Amino acid sequence: MKSPKVIARLVEAAVSAQKHAYCPYSRFAVGASVLTESGRIFAGCNVENASYGLTICAERAAIFNAISRNQRGMKAICIAGRSPKPCGACRQVMFEFSTKETALYLVDLNSNPRRQTVKRTSVHAMLPSAFDPLASGLLAANPQNLLRNRAGAAAKRRRRRPSPSKKSKRARGRRK
Ligand code: THU
Repeated sequence: MKSPKVIARLVEAAVSAQKHAYCPYSRFAVGASVLTESGRIFAGCNVENASYGLTICAERAAIFNAISRNQRGMKAICIAGRSPKPCGACRQVMFEFSTKETALYLVDLNSNPRRQTVKRTSVHAMLPSAFDPLASGLLAANPQNLLRNRAGAAAKRRRRRPSPSKKSKRARGRRK
């Protein structure tokens, strides 16, 4: 469950990232934020380039930011801009790290900031018939790509394994 307080923080992160957009060519500033399974929020903005095709959208910047901090599962994503709608490439990237439950908040920042509206949809609704990493069998072939955090998975493995001290006690017992 995402509390209204958490959603407000997520929206605030996207709105504030939008202010950092580097968009001298399009003048179309976008901010995005993601809420990960650990409850942390990561943000990003669009970064354009004189070689236009090198531009990165805000959504991907935010997601790549989270991934670089070892945060994978996305509970919610937020996009802030003028009539925001994620492009096709970003929809596919969002899908990669989402489940059916991943909420997508679209914050419409019209010229009048008081008219800011927030619409809720979902990543899966935005990309029906997506190229699904699980259905394609590609993800299962590479367990490194699992959606969970690698740190989380490692901690779980450690919990399952007996601690080294217990092990050595048992080993000592056997030696007697
Ligand atoms: N843009 C985004 O950041 N996200 C989207 O989903 C759509 C487009 C950016 C890319 C470019 O810098 C500008 O908006 C105009 O296309």
